[in-house]
Amino acid sequence: MDQGKKLYPSSFNPLFIKLTRPLPEEIAIIGAGTIGPDIGYYLKSALPGIKLYLIDILEEPLKNAEIRISSYVKKAIDRKKMKEDKAKAVLDNIIYTMDYDQIKNCDLVIEAATEIISLKQDIFERIEKVVSEDTIITSNTSSIPADRLFLKMKKPERTTITHFFAPAWRSLPVEVIAWEGGSQEVVDYLFWFFAYTGKVPIITDNAICFILDRIFDNWCNEAAYLLDYASASQIDKVVEEFVYAGPFYVLNMAKGNPIIIETNTLQMEEGPHYRPAQIFGSVEKWLTVRPGTKIEVSEDMKNTIRDRMLGILFSQSFDIIDRGIGTKEDLNFGCQVALGFRKGPFDIMRDLGEAEVNRIMQKFQEERTGFPRAEKPFSAYQNFKRHLLVDDMDDVKIITIRRPQAMNAISDDVNDEILEVLKENIDNPSIKGFVITGYGKNAFSAGADIGRFPEMLCNRNAAAQYAKDCSKVQLFMDQMGKPVVAAINGLALGGGLEIAIRCHSMVATKNAIFQFPEITLGILPGIGGCIVPYRKWPKGSKIFHEMICLARRITAKEAAEIGMVTKITDDYSEMIKEAVKEVKNIQGKIKRLPEGKVDIPEMIIPDQPMAGDLILSKEAISIIVRTIKDGAAADNFTAALEIGCKGFAEIACTDGAKEGISAFLEKRKPEFKK
Ligand code: COA
Repeated sequence: MDQGKKLYPSSFNPLFIKLTRPLPEEIAIIGAGTIGPDIGYYLKSALPGIKLYLIDILEEPLKNAEIRISSYVKKAIDRKKMKEDKAKAVLDNIIYTMDYDQIKNCDLVIEAATEIISLKQDIFERIEKVVSEDTIITSNTSSIPADRLFLKMKKPERTTITHFFAPAWRSLPVEVIAWEGGSQEVVDYLFWFFAYTGKVPIITDNAICFILDRIFDNWCNEAAYLLDYASASQIDKVVEEFVYAGPFYVLNMAKGNPIIIETNTLQMEEGPHYRPAQIFGSVEKWLTVRPGTKIEVSEDMKNTIRDRMLGILFSQSFDIIDRGIGTKEDLNFGCQVALGFRKGPFDIMRDLGEAEVNRIMQKFQEERTGFPRAEKPFSAYQNFKRHLLVDDMDDVKIITIRRPQAMNAISDDVNDEILEVLKENIDNPSIKGFVITGYGKNAFSAGADIGRFPEMLCNRNAAAQYAKDCSKVQLFMDQMGKPVVAAINGLALGGGLEIAIRCHSMVATKNAIFQFPEITLGILPGIGGCIVPYRKWPKGSKIFHEMICLARRITAKEAAEIGMVTKITDDYSEMIKEAVKEVKNIQGKIKRLPEGKVDIPEMIIPDQPMAGDLILSKEAISIIVRTIKDGAAADNFTAALEIGCKGFAEIACTDGAKEGISAFLEKRKPEFKK
């Protein structure tokens, strides 16, 4: 990560933070408008046992908030995302009130009122009068710097900004602002707290509009300036190349015009070029169409719109990095996950190449003078890991896979980046080894990225090549002299488990689950999954048969019983400490995988193989059984791995694979015919 401004003095992975306070028991949210209840629902879903106070000055928004939260809970039950007993706990202990005195025992108070400084300051004064000295007080402002907001506070060190994105119950990022008057302890605690409760906190410097609103507001503002030249629907259509929904469509959904006027007026402190487009004051709803609708746009018009919109996107991205407002990792990640960009700005730049980015920027400077330009060479904006956080702990590099939007699924980029970190540090004498873990409490990794699979279905060569390409990390680890320890913080599935089992040792939290769910997709684990477990932990062979053929899940305890896991811990930070210890323990003692044939027990497959209530494909199981048997009988490990790859290529060409993968991507249950 960008070390320039030390936005992350403690660690990049929030769950490494050493806690100074316990989890909050009572939390208040001030403002029951749109975002307040959404924040409340996220908090109660993550911590159903807490007492939550929703405060407003009017009764009506409080009533609406109650209706809204109940409807979210109902939807979650209907979609089988929440069980009845949890739903009850979520709805219990929410106090909708206009009485500030009730929040006196709150450990955390989040202000989510209208964006008016004086109003917010009054609210903080009222909060400070009733809560205790230690209560953390934050604001959900999207634009106002902390020093202005907390100007009148008696204890500003316990304050900061925690900025959520719509819909706040679901959108992962939360900007946590590091500002001069606030204490590091509070920032660290909130950084940990949001990650612990399922969000992805990103630390931001105390600049107007922070990281992501600088992008979003200027993106919308620039689109409005282009209205002299093209219609809202044409502009939305052109930028669909880069975003799932164009700016006017999003503004309509969010009723966001007044926000752009306010935030861009505020940004004018940095120069008149930020002036909000006048048209925002006179339009309530933009005439545009749903994303995906066909709209005619001439080639000339398309190029003009595209260049201008990329110009503002790149200008703001350079500026955020050059001024140290945020890191490249967070900006790239946040644009995709909070703002709906298909790729991060730095990925778009990478795809276009330096010359094209320079052309776009030059044209943008001529048309829109005053906007920031890149202060560093192009390469300086590209040299970062898109999907990993890399921390140092006691001479060990800790690699955290951060792709929570896909449960840390392993894409090609993730694979490449893990390999890069290993290679970058392999000859560094001060690094004793590595730990690989997953971001958040839920998943180490939910497997290989299934979105990548359709292109290799029915294409034996493409499938075999994919399996080979994905094996690079594993093959590199096989010959490493420095230990790599997998720290399993939750689900370790499929391709994720195939990385974990090739690490030289594994530690896990007690909630970790190990599974090869490939058979439920009509495929098999082709990157060593059918081969390695039998050679590494022969004691577990019967269990591995069931795991690979029937998608049986095993717990951390069961994994420890067959020797897969060396240590089970209660929580994440303890797991990391144990993983670092394990790196030291196995220095110089890495066990290599046996080369020759291995004995495996007989495989007994039921007449009607099932995984839960899913009827599995018998054809797929027969390919798996053959692959496992041939792999065990292979003369050497390399030949065995090759058999695993071939099995994957064969199974990828079956109807079952097509059905299984399509069903996952279409979010339905597969129906295997044979
Ligand atoms: N590849 C790509 N995306 C994945 C993924 C994978 N392996 N696993 C999960 N995701 C994505 C989901 O598509 C979803 O994205 P969306 O929010 O854009 O729709 C997001 O991660 C959350 O997953 P979801 O399925 O909604 O969460 P859940 O809690 O209901 O279920 C799992 C969690 C892990 C049981 C389920 O996601 C799953 O079965 N994943 C596939 C596991 C698998 O077969 N892995 C082997 C591949 S080799």
